[in-house]
Amino acid sequence: MPQTLLPPVQEFVDRVRGYFAGGMAEAALWERAAEDLKELLGDPALKEHCKGWPDTKEGNGPAGNLLFYEDPDYKFVLNALVKKPLAETNIHDHGKSWTLYGVLEGGEHIRRWKRTDDGPKDTGPAALAEDGAFDVTPGYIDMVPPWQIHQETNGDQRTIGFIVRSQRSGTFEQYRFDPEDGAISANGGPRQIPYELS
Ligand SMILES: [Fe+2]
Repeated sequence: MPQTLLPPVQEFVDRVRGYFAGGMAEAALWERAAEDLKELLGDPALKEHCKGWPDTKEGNGPAGNLLFYEDPDYKFVLNALVKKPLAETNIHDHGKSWTLYGVLEGGEHIRRWKRTDDGPKDTGPAALAEDGAFDVTPGYIDMVPPWQIHQETNGDQRTIGFIVRSQRSGTFEQYRFDPEDGAISANGGPRQIPYELS
């Protein structure tokens, strides 16, 4: 896959690689990387580039992710989810992975849930309780730790999430929750679409 990156994106990658190389603990590393990502989201070259990115999700259909970069040593990836207006994800987690979800264009509504039963993470039925809801706009970074349950719905505008994941979707299981009966189903996450960001 292409690994040449826009200079500000390459700089972001180099910083994150430095945190890994320094042995930083996971939660601290992702908090630090979120600060760098916030800076990157304001970069004019990235904001211009994303105008040409193709949509990867429509309505409540399956999500795809543009895949810009996969780190050969530390395995983190750079992705984008490009929602057409009026799209909605299912209620899901990202399994054991960490995610920084930065809004690059548009805006959306995020809802979160927590499990109130003590069943295993991958086994239903899950008892879900609402655990916050908020609107996000460009520049906002949602840090999604392992197993956090959430859903995003955008309004009448195209919305781009520029995403850093601790590992590529498809290399781990993530889970979808049925709000009616709490059923849980495992899946490999968004399909990955290699895309050049250079
Ligand atoms: Fe998600």
